Amino acid sequence: MNCPQILVFFLLTCSAILLKLYYPQEQDGSIIVVEKNVGLNYGLLGDNLPSPSKVISFYKSIGITKIRIFDPNTEVLNALRGNTNISVIVGVKDQDLAALAAREEAVKDWFAINIEPYLADVNITTITVGNEVIPGPIGPHVLPVVQSLTNLVKSRNLPILISTVVDMSNLQQSYPPSAGMFKPQAREQLVPVLKFLSQMNTPIFVTIYPYFAFVSDPDHVSLDYAIFENKYPVFEDGLMKYTHIFDAIFDAFVWAMEKEGVMDLPMVVAETGWPSAGRGKFTTPRIAGTYNRNFVKHVESGKGTPKRPNSSIDGYLFATFNENQKPAGTEQNFGLYNPTNMKPIYKLF
Ligand SMILES: *[C@@H]1O[C@H](CO)[C@@H](O)[C@H](O)[C@H]1NC(C)=O
Ligand SMILES: *[C@@H]1O[C@H](CO)[C@@H](O)[C@H](O)[C@H]1NC(C)=O
Ligand SMILES: *[C@@H]1O[C@H](CO)[C@@H](O)[C@H](O)[C@H]1NC(C)=O
Repeated sequence: MNCPQILVFFLLTCSAILLKLYYPQEQDGSIIVVEKNVGLNYGLLGDNLPSPSKVISFYKSIGITKIRIFDPNTEVLNALRGNTNISVIVGVKDQDLAALAAREEAVKDWFAINIEPYLADVNITTITVGNEVIPGPIGPHVLPVVQSLTNLVKSRNLPILISTVVDMSNLQQSYPPSAGMFKPQAREQLVPVLKFLSQMNTPIFVTIYPYFAFVSDPDHVSLDYAIFENKYPVFEDGLMKYTHIFDAIFDAFVWAMEKEGVMDLPMVVAETGWPSAGRGKFTTPRIAGTYNRNFVKHVESGKGTPKRPNSSIDGYLFATFNENQKPAGTEQNFGLYNPTNMKPIYKLF
């Protein structure tokens, strides 16, 4: 072999070894996909999104086993048929709540149209009634719809959880976490829902965005504290030490529930994330990637928060794609992937 031949041989061998390292092969030749513990929100407010069937194949290729959709979109649910190893949280649209709360028959019809056709081959694990509508004008409709849907799935023995998604605007106070308490309107609308969920042993779904806590008070909240990069506790709250604002927010909600007599109700993080653009130096791909990777690590560590050290975090990142039909600015830039070519905006997994 002359020199160029040796070089070619070396390059081919090396790249084959490298490929093997990066893409471990199963015996049948298919690529082994490492399953992720974290879920992804799949929003559809964009006019340049890939087709749902492409998106579902994509989830499989990156090992996503759980997703959340905001309404029972037929194209997405049809694309999920047969993919029962992807579990799905399906939302009831906010604008449907008033009609559903008015009549139990309307709930039965909603279920027959939107869920029933998919039960055989789509793994619908949860239905969430409304998205961040408590506290607010349609908040009072959540409980009756949660109750009707719960009765319906129980009477049919279906393993579907019925819950709702709420945000941290329910908290009157959140610092220190042990001072966490709900606002008066949240007490009216949320506490009866929490009590019902508690009886059913169904988790409450919450959205937690350290990003908003940070941008609303950057003088007092450090970036490292907000993006899980801080190394030492920032403060102590009784015996609990807080290093990350995510944990402090989560625990403030737990304390607020306990003050209402709701003990041990599991909390699932329906959304968290960080925008990669839209607001200058604090919204870059580097910072967004750091926050999201650290959140994934938190989930994968199996560790909880200081108040709930023994229960791991169950959570969904927001969101799969940048969505260009959301309000301009940061809202359009929470995606992990570029919708037009499905390339990552930063390295996550
Ligand atoms: C789900 O199962 C299918 C077929 O068994 C497999 O091809 C796919 O990779 C799996 N998806 C995930 C995310 O594990
Ligand atoms: C549906 O998803 C749940 C939760 O991820 C999982 O435990 C269950 O095995 C899945 N069901 C099927 C039929 O794959
Ligand atoms: C967590 O588990 C440890 C070890 O089992 C136990 O000592 C501790 O009391 C638990 N903490 C809470 C808050 O449940």
